[in-house]
Amino acid sequence: MSYYITTSISYVNGVPHLGHAYEAIATDILARHKRQTGEDVFFLTGTDEHGEPVADAARAQGLEPQELADRNSARFIALMQQLEISNDFFIRTTDERHKQRVQQVLQRVHDRDYTYEGVYEGWYCPRCADFKVENEILDGNRCPIHEIELTREQEQNWFFRLSAFQEPLERLFDERPDFVMPQHRFNEARAFIASGLEDVSLTRAHLKWGVEVPWDRSQVFYVWFDALLNYYTALGFAREGEDLTDRYWPATYHIIGKDILKFHTVFWPALLMAAELEVPRHVFVHGFLLAGDGRKMSKSLGNVLDPFEVLERFGADALRHYLVREVSFGQDGPVSGDAFLARYDSELANEYGNLASRTLNMLERYCDGVVPAVATQEGLRAEFSGLFERVDELLSRAEISLALEEIWGHVRRLNRYVEEQTPWAIARDGARAGELAEVLATLAEGLRVVTVALVPYMPSKTAELLDALAARERTERAFAAQGWGGRVSALAPLFPKAAAEAR
Ligand code: MSP
Repeated sequence: MSYYITTSISYVNGVPHLGHAYEAIATDILARHKRQTGEDVFFLTGTDEHGEPVADAARAQGLEPQELADRNSARFIALMQQLEISNDFFIRTTDERHKQRVQQVLQRVHDRDYTYEGVYEGWYCPRCADFKVENEILDGNRCPIHEIELTREQEQNWFFRLSAFQEPLERLFDERPDFVMPQHRFNEARAFIASGLEDVSLTRAHLKWGVEVPWDRSQVFYVWFDALLNYYTALGFAREGEDLTDRYWPATYHIIGKDILKFHTVFWPALLMAAELEVPRHVFVHGFLLAGDGRKMSKSLGNVLDPFEVLERFGADALRHYLVREVSFGQDGPVSGDAFLARYDSELANEYGNLASRTLNMLERYCDGVVPAVATQEGLRAEFSGLFERVDELLSRAEISLALEEIWGHVRRLNRYVEEQTPWAIARDGARAGELAEVLATLAEGLRVVTVALVPYMPSKTAELLDALAARERTERAFAAQGWGGRVSALAPLFPKAAAEAR
């Protein structure tokens, strides 16, 4: 079966921040894991380039919107590369091919009579490019996300008959309890629908920066409809001369943040139904990375931990590991430079990095650098059996933090195994050579297994380690009964203890 996974697409009114990195990392872990298990994966990310926020930001900087979009989109692409995100395509919504397909789909929605003309009036946040409903507005008429004052807006535009999908959406939620995950987000979306759906404005008259409405050229589509459709349009042109729609549609997972829940779990399936397209299988809603003051981290609030800085100093793997470990996927959680350094030291340098260098050093010292081709220790083998199945099961539900916790438990188990067995003491007694071979074969195999499981999380360092273990080809997902007899090579510390100097 195919596995199509997407991040949301980022606004280009600002440069990327850690929240964007987080979503891309999480999605990448799932994509890499599925590729590892042999599935036919397509992973899409990109930038959302139309709408009020981009037009406003460009104006403020004396640029054309397209110039700003080009500039910032390039920053997002660079971030993806630095994070080692393995996306199969990067969509930009200013791509002509996207715009054409948006027009085709929405024309169909119009032809099927799910649109009508009307007057829209409401409290509007230009940063969100969204009208706010009464119960989400903060005191003093401020945006709940950006905390800026909302403006009262009125205009003649086209509406989408969202209300016509009240029952179909209720049915969708009744039939598919895993349509939205985690559960509390499912409940939130379900409650929103139950509160009664009102039609929503589909187009904008006062704005020029968008995709033209084919049946009314004086209007452009409201940026959210243009943006949501990226998941569908991309499959039409991601591969030159090929249409991937039949192969990958509908999406298996959309990975999104909690602030855009309503768009993805209510508007989006309704729009797809209106266009007679299949709805996605799952939407997974993650929480926010919070700054020390407990507020959402974002460029506009000026409390940003810059992903580029962390990447520069510590590399992608360390950042990927930190974010997934620190903030339980699906919940909010604080992040900080100090917490990053503490976890880097304790888990990456000490627990994993040290395990790797110790194991390689002992193999070199006591076994002439060759993994003994003898039976691994039965007890440990039993403890490791089922690891991949458990990781698979968790990741099939997008539980990236729980799966990493499971793997990390095994990293710690191997460290305890070294302490229990004390191979250096066994080595002093020539009569215990067989025992020593068993312990080191077991350790090498355990290290190989946790490392293969960690590949989706830390693609670079795990590749280095598997090379050093001469186990690059040994990617089987089970704890082998026998050491493999490979010749290991020296490895520079995977995660040098840089924290002390960096503090
Ligand atoms: N352009 C829209 C999405 C359109 S999808 C059809 C958008 N862009 S965004 O740049 O504002 O946000 C992109 C993603 O980053 C969203 O999923 C959002 O929830 C996520 N994050 C933004 N700040 C975040 C944190 N502080 N923490 C974690 N993720 C957050 O919304």
